[in-house]
Amino acid sequence: MTSVNPKDNAADLTVLGIETSCDETAAAVVRGPHGRQILSNTIRSQIDEHTEFGGVVPEIAARAHIDILDRIVAEAMQEADCGWDDIDAVAATAGPGLIGGVIVGFMTAKAIAMAANKPIVGVNHLEGHALTARLTHDLDFPFLLLLVSGGHSQFLLVRGVGDYERLGTTIDDAIGEAFDKTAKLLGLPYPGGPHVEKMAAAGDPLRFKLPRPLLDRAGLDMSFAGLKTALRTQAKKLEPVDDQTVSDLCAGFQRAVSDVLAARTKSALDLFKQRHPDVEPVIVVAGGVAANAEIRSSLLTAAAEAGARFIAPPMRLCTDNAAMIAWAGIERLCEGPVDDMALSPRPRWPLDARQAGILGAGRKGAKV
Ligand code: KG4
Ligand code: ZN
Repeated sequence: MTSVNPKDNAADLTVLGIETSCDETAAAVVRGPHGRQILSNTIRSQIDEHTEFGGVVPEIAARAHIDILDRIVAEAMQEADCGWDDIDAVAATAGPGLIGGVIVGFMTAKAIAMAANKPIVGVNHLEGHALTARLTHDLDFPFLLLLVSGGHSQFLLVRGVGDYERLGTTIDDAIGEAFDKTAKLLGLPYPGGPHVEKMAAAGDPLRFKLPRPLLDRAGLDMSFAGLKTALRTQAKKLEPVDDQTVSDLCAGFQRAVSDVLAARTKSALDLFKQRHPDVEPVIVVAGGVAANAEIRSSLLTAAAEAGARFIAPPMRLCTDNAAMIAWAGIERLCEGPVDDMALSPRPRWPLDARQAGILGAGRKGAKV
């Protein structure tokens, strides 16, 4: 196996990335760290396969990854106009996530790396999200990351590659999961987030009194399960609910989530400023929930009030994709030679090793 370390030769690396930890089959070729070029970024969403079940079915996801991954990799290589000789390393998600899919992607990546005689990097999916903003923006360590997706809801202090501190997390449902469950109980399709947002646009956020869970407590942890239960109780009282009521419930739910996120973001930035008084505070948001306009704008306001820079990478790089995995591979390789051939796929893999997962596995794997 050829070993690479750009610190030795200061040259850019070209890395093939593979992502299969949930319901997106993705491959990408990225060049960096200096040039920061996405040469290709191919994604196939499995949403159609899972819609009728109202959520991601792990077995169906794993089979769909097997069916299509080789074609997605070939497409990404072709679009990047790369042959195996042009690739310096292969990076693939090795966890956390739905284990069947992670095995498909990481084992495929190992086979490619072995056949092409390239180093293999097993990337933590959360590290992919955490480092994406350094691919899209000029951004130094440390910075604050708010990751809000269907599987994760957490504040991370990103101090360096491989150096993370989880400052707060949901103690029950991930935010995207809460959107999806709320949508389901109101009869809206999966994935729920965009449908809840659409209905909320015609709703009155003040009609129903919904809680702001945990905000009476210090710290940065969050909770969304109680909010969803409160909404269910209100909806039950008015059954059968008309469209206006659904809109009002969606608007109330979205407002409550936005309020919780904004308040926690302000506290997270206060903590950041205490820890790093000489650094410009930066908050980066990633994950599918960041697509929500009301949430985005309340985060933007919270950041502005705290005097912090707000970075939201483009949505196609905020949601699951393989460019972020290739980039995390490049960042790891910049730290020194990597050989993860002996690494096993992991369903759980907290970025902050001192913080074990505090929850059971969610619909999309570990929720931490
Ligand atoms: O990051 P992502 O694409 O996949 C993972 O979960 O890893 O996030 C998907 C989640 C789903 O739960 C979806 O309902 C939520 O993001 N979502 C939204 C919106 N668009 C997607 N939630 C609220 N508002 C949206 N506009
Ligand atoms: Zn993700």
